[in-house]
Amino acid sequence: MGYVRWFGHSAFEILLDGYRVLVDPWISNPKSPISVSEYKERVDLIIVTHDHGDHTGDVVELMKRNKDARLVAVYELANSLAEKIGDSSRAIGANIGGPVKIDGVDLKVMFFPATHSATFGGTPTSVLLQGKEASIYHAGDTGLTAEMQLIGELYTVDIALLPIGGHFTMDSYQAAKAAQLLRARVAIPMHYDTFPVIQADPNEFAEYVKKMSPETKVVILRPGEKYEF
Ligand code: NI
Ligand code: MN
Repeated sequence: MGYVRWFGHSAFEILLDGYRVLVDPWISNPKSPISVSEYKERVDLIIVTHDHGDHTGDVVELMKRNKDARLVAVYELANSLAEKIGDSSRAIGANIGGPVKIDGVDLKVMFFPATHSATFGGTPTSVLLQGKEASIYHAGDTGLTAEMQLIGELYTVDIALLPIGGHFTMDSYQAAKAAQLLRARVAIPMHYDTFPVIQADPNEFAEYVKKMSPETKVVILRPGEKYEF
């Protein structure tokens, strides 16, 4: 029994096969019900999709607090975070391609492209997290991209976490197409309403998905809520 818990923005806590994984953990974002200091869970793995501050968020503090946690990100970003954490042995630099080998964490992590930008280099990514209980795709910050079709053809996507806020990423209409390309069983909207510029109505996303990807179930979470699988 696992779950996906949303803190608002792109920050998720995933419990999968008994591992606790954080993706883009900006837990102190303005919509989150808790601050990072109130987050007490022991973390096994942190995944960061790209180097923008709304995604690297509380990574350094969480890595310093969780002495056994590993971090995985694209090579340049992992190196830069390792310096800030002061421990290069736990920050694993990877890249777009096949599964990343992570000592002590028996989950498959695969990075795929995200059509986006980065501050200092290192390509932005989306990520597929495969466990025995479920396969979860976090799109990072991305525009709509045809690569999603390949992911849908090659892998099962039980849960897709998709940005819908527009301006920096896909909007609801484009994200519904992404759900279709990914053949997602469940789609959870993210990266909206944190700031005025990314205001969006998740019910509109649900309406588009109903038309464009009727096999996909949309689950709308409020910040702090979990979806159990
Ligand atoms: Ni970004
Ligand atoms: Mn962002």
